[in-house]
Amino acid sequence: MGWFSLLSLLFFLLPFSSFQTSSNSSSSSIIHHLSPLCHPYERSALIQFKNSFSVNNTIASDYYDYECDGIDPPTVSWAKNDASNCCAWRGVTCDEKAGHVIGLDLSCASLQGAFHSNSTLFFLRNLQSLHLSQNDFGGSTIPSEIGKFTDLEHHILRDSNFSGNVPPEISYLSKLVTLDVSSNNFHKLKVDTFTLKRIVTNLTNLEALSMDLVDMSSVSPVVLMNLSSSLINLTLNSCSLGGNLPADYIFYLPKLEMLYLFGNENLTGSLFPKSNRNSSSPLKKFSLSETKLSIDFPYLIQNFKYSLEFLGLGSCKILGWNPTLLANLTQISVLDLYSNNFGGEIPWSSLMHLERLITLDLSDNNFTGQLPEISSYNSTQLSFSYDNSSNSLTSGGPLPLELEFLELSDNLLNGTIPGWLYSLKSLEYLDLRSNQFTGYIEEFQFHSLVALDLSNNKLHGSLPSSIFQQVNLTYLDLSSNSLSGDVGINNFSKLKRLEYLLMSKNQLSGEIPSSICNLVSLEYLDLSNNSLTGTVHPCLGNFSISLSVLNLHMNKLHGTIPLTFAKGNSLRNLNLNGNQLGGILPQSLVRCKKMEMLDVGNNKMNDTFPYWLESLPMLQVLILRSNRFHGSIEVSPKTALPFRKLQIMDLSDNEFSGNLPTKYFKNLLAMMDAHSDRLTYMGEDAYNESTIVVIKGFFIEMEKIQTMFITIDLSKNNFEGEIPKLIGKLKSLKGLNFSHNKLTGPIPSTLENLSNLEWLDLSSNELIRWTHT
Ligand SMILES: *[C@@H]1O[C@H](CO)[C@@H](O)[C@H](O)[C@H]1NC(C)=O
Ligand SMILES: *[C@@H]1O[C@H](CO)[C@@H](O)[C@H](O)[C@H]1NC(C)=O
Ligand SMILES: *[C@@H]1O[C@H](CO)[C@@H](O)[C@H](O)[C@H]1NC(C)=O
Ligand SMILES: *[C@@H]1O[C@H](CO)[C@@H](O)[C@H](O)[C@H]1NC(C)=O
Ligand SMILES: *[C@@H]1O[C@H](CO)[C@@H](O)[C@H](O)[C@H]1NC(C)=O
Ligand SMILES: *[C@@H]1O[C@H](CO)[C@@H](O)[C@H](O)[C@H]1NC(C)=O
Ligand SMILES: *[C@@H]1O[C@H](CO)[C@@H](O)[C@H](O)[C@H]1NC(C)=O
Ligand SMILES: *[C@@H]1O[C@H](CO)[C@@H](O)[C@H](O)[C@H]1NC(C)=O
Ligand SMILES: *[C@@H]1O[C@H](CO)[C@@H](O)[C@H](O)[C@H]1NC(C)=O
Ligand SMILES: *[C@@H]1O[C@H](CO)[C@@H](O)[C@H](O)[C@H]1NC(C)=O
Ligand SMILES: *[C@@H]1O[C@H](CO)[C@@H](O)[C@H](O)[C@H]1NC(C)=O
Ligand SMILES: *[C@@H]1O[C@H](CO)[C@@H](O)[C@H](O)[C@H]1NC(C)=O
Repeated sequence: MGWFSLLSLLFFLLPFSSFQTSSNSSSSSIIHHLSPLCHPYERSALIQFKNSFSVNNTIASDYYDYECDGIDPPTVSWAKNDASNCCAWRGVTCDEKAGHVIGLDLSCASLQGAFHSNSTLFFLRNLQSLHLSQNDFGGSTIPSEIGKFTDLEHHILRDSNFSGNVPPEISYLSKLVTLDVSSNNFHKLKVDTFTLKRIVTNLTNLEALSMDLVDMSSVSPVVLMNLSSSLINLTLNSCSLGGNLPADYIFYLPKLEMLYLFGNENLTGSLFPKSNRNSSSPLKKFSLSETKLSIDFPYLIQNFKYSLEFLGLGSCKILGWNPTLLANLTQISVLDLYSNNFGGEIPWSSLMHLERLITLDLSDNNFTGQLPEISSYNSTQLSFSYDNSSNSLTSGGPLPLELEFLELSDNLLNGTIPGWLYSLKSLEYLDLRSNQFTGYIEEFQFHSLVALDLSNNKLHGSLPSSIFQQVNLTYLDLSSNSLSGDVGINNFSKLKRLEYLLMSKNQLSGEIPSSICNLVSLEYLDLSNNSLTGTVHPCLGNFSISLSVLNLHMNKLHGTIPLTFAKGNSLRNLNLNGNQLGGILPQSLVRCKKMEMLDVGNNKMNDTFPYWLESLPMLQVLILRSNRFHGSIEVSPKTALPFRKLQIMDLSDNEFSGNLPTKYFKNLLAMMDAHSDRLTYMGEDAYNESTIVVIKGFFIEMEKIQTMFITIDLSKNNFEGEIPKLIGKLKSLKGLNFSHNKLTGPIPSTLENLSNLEWLDLSSNELIRWTHT
């Protein structure tokens, strides 16, 4: 699942599953002049409720922005409006006769703070509609007092940072028509079988139930058999719902229009013809992607061809696949069929009939053939995506001119980047990663590029200057090509939103321009494996507080490392290996509390052992190999748990002397009992740590470092004295190299304890034979 699928997930988590505000609560301004006077106790309850929170406009994550864009917090106007008549306040609706508050819409009100069970909100006993989505209630539990609102019809709490259990008292709200507790905080809210059963059994008027991202891992799906036949929308995306879904029951709910079960990877069951459904079935939006549900494809098409608008069948079990049937989905606008191992040619002859198609995801299948010539396809937003290793499409096109999103990665596209691509002026996302494109990158006129990935092709020539005009660009990956030219002549200053700048494995030359230090949003800077010259500009240590990776490995940089790291920085990986850098390590590295990997190997550093790094709590990899580090490492640790996470320690090929660092060995906790149930790698999915390691005398480049890769290499120094017995405590070691030193004495028998050891080199020392002591 690439960008595209992530986007389409967001897409349907947002507009498709957000419920309409009930007409009464959103139209208070219309009835302003005839609004009744509000009851003073309700007015004061509202004011106290509002005052129990702060209004914080910066709680907005990207996600909040989306729905709340441009909406003024309703409570701001409360103070300015008619001070006494709360019925006239924005977001407040009153009953016209009795003057009671019956509707409260505080969605996007930017309220922040704890939501207590003694909240004055609960004085508003006549509420019929309560919207509190997009606020930040600081992980409060949903108060069980909510059960007192027995007139409530619309209860909407989505994305408001509640946590804990959904209270069973919601089942008292038997008039509820919409219930939305979807959360953008994965699994912070939980619901159990007991509560869900009470809710679905008692809410017989329910038309829309939305519990996306709520933890349902303990729920038995059988309770869904109690869902009311009034149900229209059901969305349970990524709930960890597992077990056998009573699919026949849910599928036959007579009014069901929307059924989203995306991402419940342990959900089984099958949707097969049982009885003949009425062919005018209303099911419009349907996603089973990333579940284990199986579905009879011809049956699905037969029954829903006139109604389906959104169909998500990525990575699920489709039986009876027949691409010609796609032509019958006359209303379809979103079609997700990724990761299904479909083969043959892309069924363009069927897809061409789908006049409303906006997004199409066929990634991670086994399609072959050419890109179709469909530039005249009449669609404003058609998005394609043939992602991942399995499709093998070759050049062709042109594709529709209005494309905004195009993902063609991991195919067999060759030749120069086709001219029609440069004329896609609306393009925002372009992913041509891992093809066989050759030639230059021409200047382009894309209007507003957000992400550009041309990595892993055979492109050459210099960087087109139009890249540097893309003010909205957040992701730029040009790595693993043959791009050349002086990178120093480019001005990066306009790319204020850039988070990823990845240009490793090219032939770029020149100096790193200091305009890179204007990239205030940058998180990943990888210019490794080029031919960059000059010195490291001091600003590179301190320009973006979010910088997490700085990788300049394998260039021709010289001078010292004049970097000053600021407090609170995010640096996780600093790799300067393979340059000609001299001088000492900057002590401000101790401020890099998140540092996991520090690699300055293969330079000309002239320094003593940086013992002060022992306090970095996350440091996993320390590589000082092949420099001129010197002196003794017989220091007494100043930190309680020095190097507690360290698992690769490579000090080889330096001028260290004195005894082996026994006091450190004693404390290398991560080397003592590492265990892992599955293969994991250092770093994160967005950027895995990579390095060159020496294994059995060979340099081996690791694109990713396994978390179980645990080694000590102190070879080629002047260490003397004996090998300490307690080396046997480092039971998780895979490799140990003390060769080419001046070690004396016996080889300790405790080495027998290193049961995970795959290579051991003690050669070229003055050790005496193995003794059992
Ligand atoms: C169901 O969802 C659709 C699409 O998001 C929406 O337009 C409709 O109002 C919802 N129906 C109910 C009853 O909430
Ligand atoms: C709006 O309020 C009026 C009067 O209180 C009521 O009759 C009507 O049913 C309400 N409509 C909705 C959609 O809540
Ligand atoms: C506003 O919310 C953000 C995000 O939760 C937080 O970092 C910030 O400190 C809050 N501001 C105030 C003034 O409380
Ligand atoms: C409501 O409860 C909270 C937490 O228990 C408490 O701090 C607060 O003072 C209470 N407010 C009132 C008005 O009782
Ligand atoms: C079901 O709703 C009724 C009101 O219609 C209420 O009296 C009853 O307590 C509710 N039962 C449960 C189990 O919530
Ligand atoms: C699915 O089941 C497996 C095995 O029981 C479990 O490890 C995994 O977490 C489950 N996935 C979800 C999304 O609950
Ligand atoms: C379904 O599509 C096929 C192929 O385009 C067509 O022959 C058939 O008539 C369509 N069936 C219906 C019921 O629309
Ligand atoms: C992909 O398709 C080719 C033929 O086009 C076939 O030989 C191959 O087995 C298919 N791969 C998979 C994984 O199905
Ligand atoms: C193509 O789209 C345009 C504008 O959206 C519309 O006016 C035109 O009728 C469409 N043409 C066809 C053949 O659908
Ligand atoms: C592109 O690949 C095809 C085979 O897939 C080959 O026939 C053609 O010669 C290649 N074109 C270029 C320019 O390399
Ligand atoms: C950048 O994106 C914004 C929307 O986020 C858009 O309004 C603006 O036109 C874009 N700027 C350019 C130069 O494309
Ligand atoms: C290392 O630095 C010291 C002083 O800082 C200097 O005396 C010595 O000559 C340097 N060694 C090398 C090999 O450059």
